[in-house]
Amino acid sequence: MAGKGIAATRAAAPAALPAPHPSIGVEAGTQFVETPQVRAIAQRALGYLRAGYPVHFSGPAGTGKTTLALHVAALRGRPVALMHGDDEFGSSDLVGGDFGYKKSRVVDNFIHSVVKTEENMSTLWADNRLTVACRNGDTLVYDEFTRSRAEANNALLSVLEERILSIPKRRPHGDGFIEVHPEFRAILTSNPEEYAGVHRTQDALNDRLITIQVDHFDRETEVRITETKSGIPLGEAELIVDIVRELRTLGLTKQGPSLRACIMIARVTVQEKAHARAGDSVFGDVCRDVLGSLSAKVVRDGNGTRTTVDDVVARNSKRLRAESKSRPAPVVGRGVAEEATP
Ligand SMILES: Nc1ncnc2c1ncn2[C@@H]1O[C@H](COP(=O)(O)OP(=O)(O)OP(=O)(O)O)[C@@H](O)[C@H]1O
Ligand SMILES: [Mg+2]
Repeated sequence: MAGKGIAATRAAAPAALPAPHPSIGVEAGTQFVETPQVRAIAQRALGYLRAGYPVHFSGPAGTGKTTLALHVAALRGRPVALMHGDDEFGSSDLVGGDFGYKKSRVVDNFIHSVVKTEENMSTLWADNRLTVACRNGDTLVYDEFTRSRAEANNALLSVLEERILSIPKRRPHGDGFIEVHPEFRAILTSNPEEYAGVHRTQDALNDRLITIQVDHFDRETEVRITETKSGIPLGEAELIVDIVRELRTLGLTKQGPSLRACIMIARVTVQEKAHARAGDSVFGDVCRDVLGSLSAKVVRDGNGTRTTVDDVVARNSKRLRAESKSRPAPVVGRGVAEEATP
């Protein structure tokens, strides 16, 4: 969880209801970056949750949806139940099922010439995460929920609308349904439907969610996340982010490289004691490798000019160098560095 900038700690399950999938408590980690843009999205989502609606972060890979979902869940201050969508999921993976047998045998030999045996076999029901979350009033984070087939997610429909979890298979052990705790809320994330391995969501579920479209963060946020997650100097983080953002606009692939690519390039550069600048061979190699298939491609702009990844690295490096030279040098006064006024 540290990779998400969120620290996870186990929250004790209520003594009366030992949960097979205990919730986790999440809190902001030191590497979580909160810029005005991140704060604005999180506050919007919190408002919807406060009003009782489930929130859905939808967007391309690497735009920070899972991190945002965990952050918003942490802000609610309730235990968090985390689930990841899976093509193999059936409804029992969400709500629970009969996962074992209990067999008991009584041998009565009180009268030594008579042996009486009695055998009993019953199935053992185990709740799964959705059931535990609905009962305890947790915040359910259902990451990549469209990786599960639509029918596996059917149990969510009545949970989100009528606030009842229907569990007909559980009837021998209980009522066949449970009332959803008033504090229960759901945060879902997904990639767009055209992504490989993603199922179409049933319209009824989409209709119950408030979907926040998450796109790539603004430059400031991407720079600060790259800097924080790698420890690279600010100027070098800016260069990496500018390279990735320019490649995105060139439209070499449908979504372009994500924030993940920025973090990868920055981390490797720092680890290899290299520097993000044109002419640094380690940096050049890592840019070409991380930006993968893009590096082999060239594009031609409207004037028929060729552009490669190396060109983008060199151009941005030169521009940032020129910008930093034209910036006024900081003036140091009374032990405090102050920006010189032009
Ligand atoms: N606010 C933030 N603070 C710190 N790191 C962040 C923040 N937002 C995103 N990141 C980092 O950016 C990377 C991508 O974020 P994340 O995994 O949340 O994206 P995603 O949209 O869920 O991607 P996918 O669709 O592939 O699952 C991760 O390494 C994550 O730690
Ligand atoms: Mg994710």
